[in-house]
Amino acid sequence: MSYFITTPIYYVNDVPHIGHAYTTIACDILSRFSKLKGDETYFLTGTDEHGQKVEKAALSNKKDTQDFVDEMSKNFRDLIPYLGCEIDDFIRTTEKRHKISAQFLWNKLKNNDQIYLSNYEGWYSIRDEAFYLESELTKTDKGFLAPSGAPVDWVKEESYFFKLSKWEDELIKYYEKNPDSILPKSRYNEVLSFIKGGLKDLSISRTTFNWGIQVPETEKHVMYVWIDALCNYITALNYPNTENDSFKKYWPGIHVVGKDILRFHAVYWPAFLMAAEIDPPKQIFAHGWWTNEGQKISKSVGNIINPYEIIDTYGLDQIRFFLFREVPFGNDGDFSKSAIAQRVNADLSNNYGNLIQRITSFIIKNSDSKIFKPTNYNEIDTTLIKSFDTTLDSYLKNMKSFQIDKALKNIFDYLSEINAYVDSQAPWSLKNTDNKRMNDVLYIITLMTIKTSILLYPVIPSSIDKALNIYNLTINNLNLINFNNFLPDSILLNKTKPLFPRIEL
Ligand code: MSP
Repeated sequence: MSYFITTPIYYVNDVPHIGHAYTTIACDILSRFSKLKGDETYFLTGTDEHGQKVEKAALSNKKDTQDFVDEMSKNFRDLIPYLGCEIDDFIRTTEKRHKISAQFLWNKLKNNDQIYLSNYEGWYSIRDEAFYLESELTKTDKGFLAPSGAPVDWVKEESYFFKLSKWEDELIKYYEKNPDSILPKSRYNEVLSFIKGGLKDLSISRTTFNWGIQVPETEKHVMYVWIDALCNYITALNYPNTENDSFKKYWPGIHVVGKDILRFHAVYWPAFLMAAEIDPPKQIFAHGWWTNEGQKISKSVGNIINPYEIIDTYGLDQIRFFLFREVPFGNDGDFSKSAIAQRVNADLSNNYGNLIQRITSFIIKNSDSKIFKPTNYNEIDTTLIKSFDTTLDSYLKNMKSFQIDKALKNIFDYLSEINAYVDSQAPWSLKNTDNKRMNDVLYIITLMTIKTSILLYPVIPSSIDKALNIYNLTINNLNLINFNNFLPDSILLNKTKPLFPRIEL
């Protein structure tokens, strides 16, 4: 199987914040999960560098636009390893490969009679880089505002239009045939009812500024930033060459996006693709938004969450874990200090970390750091071992359907079972009475802890590297394909330090 997963490409008008970090980590988790299953995986992210919003930001920073985007794009690229993410490609829309691809797509649409020249007159929001109907706006004393709260301007200019209205029926047909192509379900329903409400042709070029990809053979027009931006997903697979290996292997891909940009991905993008005779995306997953201690995150309130700061305060894996365990993926979530401390302490420090810590120190002290495969198992042992299979089934099902929080819950429920087994079998009380049984119990606990750790790898990879190192293992020799047969004759342990110190508020 092959698996192509993408983040949205981020606008470079400002520095990265928690919203960007969230989507990138989500895709990293899914990509690592897919690699762990042995699928050929390609994880793409990058930066969206054209359009009026970015041009305006460069201007207000008194910088040359190209210099400005070079500098800002680097901030996004540098953040990736800090988030513990491993990407396969980073695309910038100002790259030559992308200009060639976007202009080719434009020509393809033009040749397929999907584009015509006319005049646009209506509302535009630079902050959202989106056109709005007046019926979508709210009238306030500061003027009309977009549903996102962004201000809008009345624009009137010559523009090329894409015949989006022509694709209404095709899109409806496509989505009715592919009910899982947009997730969660509520977002699918939302998109479908938006399309059924009727689609208008879409303005896809601008003439009032220059910072964009030029419309082929028309000096006056630059492409609307969204047609340029969406095209990045296929540029990275070497479009316009659709016969090459990576396009053939990886397209159609899976897009993870915030709920605010679902319409662009689920309506405009598939229509562009169909009109250019390319398959629509395989799946689109829309996630929710984070608030900060109950408040909407915004520059003017001054409560923007800087990813570097929270990682430095709480730890990388603690943050990765919190973001995806605390809130069902797809829902909105609230970032709060007390919620992080509670979640990390209860799950990572107590349930998981303490289990490893107390068992490994016990083995090091009382079994000369080594335990041996049992020769027989009693009923309590087999119950624990079998229960892992049920956990694994649910985990796989949940991960495949983007329900990362549920998959994590499966893991922590199982860790509680291991802890209950530890308490009931009490290896410490066997020390002076039954050394063989003590070894067997310790082996079973260790084996099941190792297997459970593999399931945690996509979410907290660097901690799992450390945990596996205790058992002289690496993620390269143990993964979701071969770990069913993992039953070594003996396990030798290294010394440990606590993996997850408690967070004190
Ligand atoms: N450039 C476009 C995407 C083009 S994709 C072809 C864009 N960029 S963005 O930088 O403004 O936003 C990127 C992502 O950040 C979006 O998916 C958005 O939902 C997400 N978030 C921004 N603020 C957020 C939160 N407070 N919480 C969660 N995600 C949020 O849109």
